[in-house]
Amino acid sequence: MNVIIETERLLLRTFTLEDAPLIYELNLDPEVIKYTLDPIKDVEHAQQVLEQAILPQYALYNHGRWAVHVKPGLEFIGWCGLKARPERNEIDLGYRLIKKAWGKGYATEAAHACIRYGFEKLNLRCITGRAMPQNLASLKVLGNCGMTYIGEGIVDGHPAKTYEILNPFIP
Ligand SMILES: CC(C)(COP(=O)(O)OP(=O)(O)OC[C@H]1O[C@@H](n2cnc3c(N)ncnc32)[C@H](O)[C@@H]1OP(=O)(O)O)[C@@H](O)C(=O)NCCC(=O)NCCS
Repeated sequence: MNVIIETERLLLRTFTLEDAPLIYELNLDPEVIKYTLDPIKDVEHAQQVLEQAILPQYALYNHGRWAVHVKPGLEFIGWCGLKARPERNEIDLGYRLIKKAWGKGYATEAAHACIRYGFEKLNLRCITGRAMPQNLASLKVLGNCGMTYIGEGIVDGHPAKTYEILNPFIP
């Protein structure tokens, strides 16, 4: 397990191709993908997402979406992480957890740790977070992490509220 970040309750590690079934099962729950609009058809599709979208980010940017496990049993609960979006000149903070892990502060804990990692280890200048206006839990997490609300608009064809946080270590 290639652990990138450890928090009080969580471990964040890089995904591998063998994680396709975990990604598939996470996205099977309609409530989990209610505001993300990116269903995964089957395990092969999940493997393609890993191959084409998730794994290349690690090599290109030293960051990406990381698998989240709860200590000490290491149960997989979803993912959180920093995705480069060069077409928008943005580093996007994202997270997605299985339903039974919701409401325990895990997303906030993981997201906050990703922001710190991005600023302290990777010297990123700015991290962006975005959620649909109805996705109140996600918006709450962005606020919990100290991000500032920038505004609302259509992004990637859908209404979204955008938040940002600047690296306090870069003047
Ligand atoms: C968004 C998500 C990651 C949040 O995970 P979580 O671990 O439950 O988040 P946290 O417990 O850290 O914080 C959630 C906060 O939102 C609040 N919240 C949850 N549902 C809410 C709702 N319907 N209305 C208002 N607030 C809500 C919680 O009370 C909590 O607030 P608090 O920090 O003041 O206690 C989880 O709901 C999820 O995986 N959703 C599906 C995927 C998704 O939408 N991802 C984001 C795409 S932009």
